[in-house]
Amino acid sequence: MGQLFVALATGLIVTSIWLLVRNARTLTEKIITKLLVVLHPIKDAQNTGIPGPNWKPFDGQTLEKFLDGKARTEEWQRCYGPIYRIWSGTTPEIVITRPEDIRSFHSDSAAHNKARSSNAGWMFHQLLGECMGLINGPRWTALRNEFGPTYAHSAVVEKASILSVEAREYVDHLDPQRRPGFRLRAADAVSRFPFFCTATSIYGPLSSQEKDQLWSVAQQNLAIMGKYVLLGGIYRSGRLSRWLSPASVRELGAFQAAWEEFNVRMFRTRREKRKLVPIVELWRHVEEGLVTKDEALHTLSEILFANLDVATGTLSWLVIFLALDESVQKQLREELGGRPAEESCTKKDDLLAYCFMETLRLRPFTAFSIPESSPNDKILGGFQIPANTSVVVSALHVNYNKGFWGQDSDQFRPGRFSAVKALDLRYNLFSFGFGTRKCLGQRFGEVMLKLFVIHLLGRYDISLTPAARADLDKVGRDNWVPIPEADVFFTERKA
Ligand code: HEM
Ligand SMILES: *[C@@H]1O[C@H](CO)[C@@H](O)[C@H](O)[C@H]1NC(C)=O
Repeated sequence: MGQLFVALATGLIVTSIWLLVRNARTLTEKIITKLLVVLHPIKDAQNTGIPGPNWKPFDGQTLEKFLDGKARTEEWQRCYGPIYRIWSGTTPEIVITRPEDIRSFHSDSAAHNKARSSNAGWMFHQLLGECMGLINGPRWTALRNEFGPTYAHSAVVEKASILSVEAREYVDHLDPQRRPGFRLRAADAVSRFPFFCTATSIYGPLSSQEKDQLWSVAQQNLAIMGKYVLLGGIYRSGRLSRWLSPASVRELGAFQAAWEEFNVRMFRTRREKRKLVPIVELWRHVEEGLVTKDEALHTLSEILFANLDVATGTLSWLVIFLALDESVQKQLREELGGRPAEESCTKKDDLLAYCFMETLRLRPFTAFSIPESSPNDKILGGFQIPANTSVVVSALHVNYNKGFWGQDSDQFRPGRFSAVKALDLRYNLFSFGFGTRKCLGQRFGEVMLKLFVIHLLGRYDISLTPAARADLDKVGRDNWVPIPEADVFFTERKA
């Protein structure tokens, strides 16, 4: 009897404490949200506040936005409608979903600014804070001019035949044992290809030792992203990181030193060469003070490391969608058979181009675009959005919009692009971004990925394992970009 009483009483006390702590937490979140709303008022004509989820400790919705983008897109849309507010740390971000809002937000695109460090805090700033994609004004113009010529349309067309040879060699050595049939995780099969093509575009040809060194610096960078930046919390603050996680700060320092050392070495070993490669001119400009060292190193990080995930993700999904659909594979082989790869990889209105766009549509690398603000007040979705407020586009919502893409918007059907006018795509597809800050590497990425597919289909029939077929959406959780887990079967075609 006594024991039962003690057990019941303990149970009661534990439950009450638990309830108290839980409610205190919800209450604190509500109070902080109220305070933030007062600080950043966004109202419509009826003077009601813009809807959105409560602030959450300590990052607001920043992490969910990247790591759980698909589920959150659906939930937030359902709860709050076509325009709503989320919190990135304590900074509000307005999410827009409708093409008319995207158009009016981008009407003054050339004057837009990217948010400092993408509102993602201190650790992120140490890796990418000064990169081209996140800085503004004359510093951005200088950097964009620095890298622009390397990735311009004409330069990419010129590089196509070299990229084609590289793609062919890569595909020929996909299986080191040269078996006639084998199975690989799509992402593992493809990832070194875009990475080293992009590296070669900056450093010129790399020795195998240099490749290994670069790959290992990339792993250091991705580890810091995965272990610290994606955790948020204390890593949003330099002071807290130094106090509470000195190991993370040491790891960051080791990466930064290795990254600078690698680039300086590339500069020194290439500056005497007859054919000038971009790193040489870039580093000269750093020495002359035209761009800062951080701007150069962060932009190289952006182009190589941030994009490793983006390009790997996009190429993996493209391979997976083709593996899923044998009839598209067959039609593609017919289309590609009759002409040189260099010609096929720049076409805009053939099946390969449609497959590429359909992949970008179904698997944008991010569910929510990178925050950006206009220096002018905007009316979006009936709300008055003050100047300089961060706005993001709900990429998945736009790309799956049944109103534009039809009832089968969640299906891979590349042929749908043959019926869509290019002009209508402008605000109904999120692929390489909108407006002035569109992707620097759009042409290069497109040509590189298409060449890979051309040579891949020339050599192998590809299909999906039953497990991958059953769970096509399965993605890894240690990247900020959704990287598929699926395995693909590669079967060598008879010549
Ligand atoms: C298929 C692959 C790729 C996709 C889907 C992609 C997508 C994007 C998107 C959507 C943006 C705009 C982000 C924003 O709104 O701020 C962007 C920016 C950028 N991308 Fe890409 N990208 C790809 C490949 C590449 C490659 C290969 C490079 C290397 C040259 C590159 C370099 C950049 C840079 C430097 C920016 C910042 C541009 C600026 O702010 O001026 N991207 N990319
Ligand atoms: C917006 O930001 C710009 C640049 O930071 C600044 O010059 C301007 O005064 C700001 N506008 C408002 C309304 O705060």
